[in-house]
Order: sequence, then structure tokens, then C-alpha cells
Amino acid sequence: MSDELLHIPEEEYQELIRPYADAMNNVRMRLEVLNKDYRKRNNNYPIHFIQTRIKKRASLEKKLLKKDLPVTVEAAADNIRDIAGIRVICYFEEDVYAVAERLKQQQDLIFIRERDYIQNPKESGYTSYHVIYGVPVYHVDGMEYFPVEIQIRTMSMDFWASMEHRICYKNEESKKEELQKSLVRFSQELKDMERSMHEHLNGKTEEE
Ligand code: GTP
Ligand code: MG
Repeated sequence: MSDELLHIPEEEYQELIRPYADAMNNVRMRLEVLNKDYRKRNNNYPIHFIQTRIKKRASLEKKLLKKDLPVTVEAAADNIRDIAGIRVICYFEEDVYAVAERLKQQQDLIFIRERDYIQNPKESGYTSYHVIYGVPVYHVDGMEYFPVEIQIRTMSMDFWASMEHRICYKNEESKKEELQKSLVRFSQELKDMERSMHEHLNGKTEEE
């Protein structure tokens, strides 16, 4: 394969991602509104913080190659549904489902796919709730839906996922195993802390 077939031109990439960024910012705003409104009603915030990211060009190209698809913006638009990604870090598991449920009620979002790795953890040990929505983006010449992948998890789930990701990029195999074992232990401790905090807070309301 010639080299240019392995790359999406930078200009085309920028053109591709623009509406995805609009869709992503739209969902971020919805989540911020939900968080504030929730606070007013229940006197606590379900969301600790929100991260957003647009898939980098190199990572998009890599994913297309891995899926045996042509490395083009057309193939990306037709097949890759995590060009726009939002990560929502909640305090407790019940907050994860509260946020997911309230997004589900937003009728102008098109439900595409849901994966509950909290109820069904991955073999790796990964836990998180994932959902993909088609988000309407209005431009001068009309409206189109763009997919946004939303990953909702608690702080302890995020700790596991972020650390595991780091460990995966480590080169020394022997060190990896050792790190993985510690990760299981630490993350169990964090989960226990999360549960105790939840019990302590339950029935009580948070101070400012
Ligand atoms: P991708 O091709 O990776 O997008 O997988 P998929 O389409 O089967 O989606 P899935 O819901 O399984 O995973 C999507 C995203 O979840 C990944 O891009 C990661 O951000 C995260 N993820 C899934 N599994 C793991 C895991 O074992 N460890 C970590 N750290 N993250 C994971
Ligand atoms: Mg992905």
C-alpha cells in the first residue's frame, strides 16, 4: 500500500471533526445543566467532573487500519462511533445510573448503543457504563446527527481504567504483572471506601 493511503489529509480531518466537536459540546452542556438541576433538587451533585476528547488523527487512522477499512474520512464517518467522546466521572454507582437515565429521557437524542460493563465487567476487569447517542447538529444547510460516545463511571472505576491504561503501555512484562496485582488490590480498597462513603452520606444531605 502506498504511504498516502495510510493517511487522512490534515485539512480533511479538520473538516471531518468539526461537527463532532459541536455534538460533543452540546452533550457536555446538557450534562452540566443536569448536574446543576440535580443539585437544586437533591442537594448534591451526581457528577464530579466531565472530560471530553476528539479522537486524534493518528488514532483514527490506526482504528480504521485495525478494522481493515480504507483510511478515508468517508470510512471514518460511516464506521467509527467514538470520534467524539465524553467521560463522566460520578461519585457513586447510583449517580452513574441517574445520569444515564436522565440522558435517556432527552427525546431529541437518538439512542445508538449501550454497554453496561458495571453489570457485566469486561474480562480485563474493566467496569464502566457506555452509551452512544446520535446528537442533532444544526448548520446553515440543515440538521444531521453525529454520534457521541459517553462513558459514565465512578471515581474508583476511573482509577482502575486510567491506571490499567498506563500499565498497558509499559514495556517490561515482569513489571506489568506486579503492577496489575497492586492495581486489583488498590482498586478494591477504593471501591470499599466508595461504598462506606455512600453509606455515611445516605440519608444525609451534603453541606456546601
Ligand atoms: P473500541 O474499538 O475500543 O472503541 O471498542 P468497542 O467498540 O468494543 O467499545 P467498548 O465499549 O468495548 O470500549 C470503548 C472504550 O472503552 C475504549 O476505547 C476504552 O476507552 C474503554 N475500555 C474498554 N475496555 C477497556 C479496558 O479493558 N481497559 C481500559 N482501560 N479501558 C477500556
Ligand atoms: Mg474507543
